[in-house]
Amino acid sequence: MLDLLIAGASIVDGLGGPTVPGFVGVKSDRIAIVGGEGQSEPEAAQRITAMGHAISPGFIDVHNHSDLVPFVEPWMDSMLRQGVTTVVVGNCGTSAAPPAGAAEAAELMNVRPDQLDLSWQTFAQYLERLDACRPAINVAALVGHGALRRQAMGMERRAPTADELSEMRRLLAEGLDAGAVGMSTGLIYAPGIHASTDEIVEIAQELPRYGGVYASHIRGEGAPVFDAVAECIEIGRRTGAPSHISHLKVETSRAWGRAAELLALIDSERERGADVSADQYPYAAWESSLSSCLPAWASPEELPALRSDPATHERLRTAVQRGEEGWQCCADGLGWDRIVIVGHAGSDELTGRSIQQVAEDRGADPVDTVFDLLMADPNTSVIGHAMLEEDVRTILARDDVMVASDGLGISPDGPMAGFNVHPRYYGTFPRVLGRYVAEGVLPLETAVKKMTSLPADRFALGNRGRIHEGAVADLVVFDPASVTDRATFGAPHLYAEGILAVIVAGRVVWDGEPRERAGRVIRRSEWPYG
Ligand code: CU
Ligand code: ZN
Repeated sequence: MLDLLIAGASIVDGLGGPTVPGFVGVKSDRIAIVGGEGQSEPEAAQRITAMGHAISPGFIDVHNHSDLVPFVEPWMDSMLRQGVTTVVVGNCGTSAAPPAGAAEAAELMNVRPDQLDLSWQTFAQYLERLDACRPAINVAALVGHGALRRQAMGMERRAPTADELSEMRRLLAEGLDAGAVGMSTGLIYAPGIHASTDEIVEIAQELPRYGGVYASHIRGEGAPVFDAVAECIEIGRRTGAPSHISHLKVETSRAWGRAAELLALIDSERERGADVSADQYPYAAWESSLSSCLPAWASPEELPALRSDPATHERLRTAVQRGEEGWQCCADGLGWDRIVIVGHAGSDELTGRSIQQVAEDRGADPVDTVFDLLMADPNTSVIGHAMLEEDVRTILARDDVMVASDGLGISPDGPMAGFNVHPRYYGTFPRVLGRYVAEGVLPLETAVKKMTSLPADRFALGNRGRIHEGAVADLVVFDPASVTDRATFGAPHLYAEGILAVIVAGRVVWDGEPRERAGRVIRRSEWPYG
């Protein structure tokens, strides 16, 4: 007898095949049978009748920052309630191991590092501790290059010595041995911003032996985006690792309207043999740390000293307003009215206000207001309304770009409650299935493929992401007619609608009520390499 039968559903297989009526039977943690309409239904201990609803593989979010979330909020609600069954953490160069990266990962979810027990030494220990949290959904992890660099050489603004370089390479191999699915970089953030292409190539040479992916928050997403994509592809080519561009976009007036051109560049590189993929979140705004508005030679901690010298202060102001040789400030070509505060320690009244508004309130200059905000709270986070909707749609229409959130699995009463977080934390996947499918930007089957088999295969997450006999039974039941996001920039802490049941490894995790946390760490090393 089966353990679970989902009957009367429209099956969206995750592979892009046409939606067909039928049933899905689960035995233990696997899909045991997929039946068509009219076929007799097997007996099962538990039955979900899904009349008029769709069943698809659970959504896989390859760009997530929930590295430490299971230690605080193991239900990971905002992700779970979108139908996400696996997240890949360790993105943008930030990961909770090696241990020098852990504090930054904690700050991303607005938890002080000293409030957590972050006492692991190795990537393997981190993954064991993560598993012991029993998260609601599965977690796979990348090793962050920023964490490797912090561990090997602190926040030094220089090239690594030969010893430091081999230490980073050794630490990456240790992480991959423990089951990490690849390495990420964050090349606009310290310390990744200090790394040359050659440094990354040298370290990333470990990846192919383990089948690991090279995933990158590239060096620029405005005017420099073409060079930055080329660098990511070059790193893949020189190392032999599959390369992956995180949150593909064209931002600021310097690059608006050029999404098709960027996609054409990727296509032509593929024709020349490049093994490159990408993900995207379906919104026309980013979220990041305000400190990423500073050039590589300045940190929030140094601002008092830098500002005390008039010439240096002026040079810094010019860099932040207009960028400088080899570096573009995220505000260049945008304007401070489009950069809005997400959270600022101790000043709730600033939440949701733009830098421009805060500057006007204070009778101050916007660039100096940025400096003042960073001096008061170096972790100030912001949303930048920096993309064109038209470019977002051009990228979204592609069947080979994954959907990913760049969010965290949070809840309205967790540590980020007072933050005006990006709505992508709550809405990414239902937004695509609801709004963009309904508006004809892409068909439902393609949208689901971009959320399931495409990421599962690229990040080697085992036999997941498809409705197929023998595949892991990570599943989601949703109502294609009502599924949608509710979270907005003004009111982000709203769960999505139309997600009816989420099943992880054959266990019902959520069906309108939380049932049982069934996630675990997915280690790359569980199956043969290659
Ligand atoms: Cu990210
Ligand atoms: Zn990023």
